[in-house]
Amino acid sequence: MRYDLTVRLKMIADLASRYKVSGRLIDVGADHGLLSVYCLKNDVFKEAVLTDINEGPLSRADEAIRSNLLSERASTMLTDGLDGVEVNDGDVIVIAGMGGLNIKDIIGRFMNEHDSMPKDITFILQPQKSLPELREWLYGNGFVIDDEEACFETGFYYCVLSVKYSGKELPLSDREIYYGPVMLTKFERYPEYRAFLDRVYQVRARGDKRIRDVLEGME
Ligand SMILES: C[S@@+](CC[C@H](N)C(=O)[O-])C[C@H]1O[C@@H](n2cnc3c(N)ncnc32)[C@H](O)[C@@H]1O
Repeated sequence: MRYDLTVRLKMIADLASRYKVSGRLIDVGADHGLLSVYCLKNDVFKEAVLTDINEGPLSRADEAIRSNLLSERASTMLTDGLDGVEVNDGDVIVIAGMGGLNIKDIIGRFMNEHDSMPKDITFILQPQKSLPELREWLYGNGFVIDDEEACFETGFYYCVLSVKYSGKELPLSDREIYYGPVMLTKFERYPEYRAFLDRVYQVRARGDKRIRDVLEGME
């Protein structure tokens, strides 16, 4: 079986590869397992832990690992988010393809379970929706966005964030919440994504003063 990555998954793998300190990838909501298989086969990461909350997707992940002869470098776990998952210093945790509120809950529970965060871990987050809510929550809970990338695949735009824990609550303007603190500095590279966001927020601004104010302040 071939494991070519889609544009979205390749964007996620490329961003994750920039942060591989421990060489360990934790793929939360792994489902088909494509991301981990690609990262292991291409030696982007040495080891992977794949989790999923549902048995069907987890058995797909298991099958992907077994059929690619990667069982010695990967383990799978049926669990909700990161519950019970050992996270070590320098690990990269990918949470992709689910809603932003679900991602926020997974990270929030992980924080509640740990008195101190493992050192130098990176979260790679690709929410399907509620991205502004996720950004706002991250900055209110001691996280900082290190980078943001976007891509277009089969009719949709996707944005991925790399996130570090600083332990400090940092301010984030409404403009940064809706457009992204890093994305705002690199829209020259993403003009179509910027135009897409403008269109979405112009519609939402009709019933939302906060977004209306953001749009009025945009160049
Ligand atoms: C749409 S798939 C995304 C798969 C892959 N991460 C990707 O980006 O292509 C979402 C997966 O996340 C799993 N999932 C949803 N909520 C979860 C949670 N709280 N903990 C673990 N897995 C979860 C679902 O069972 C499903 O397999």
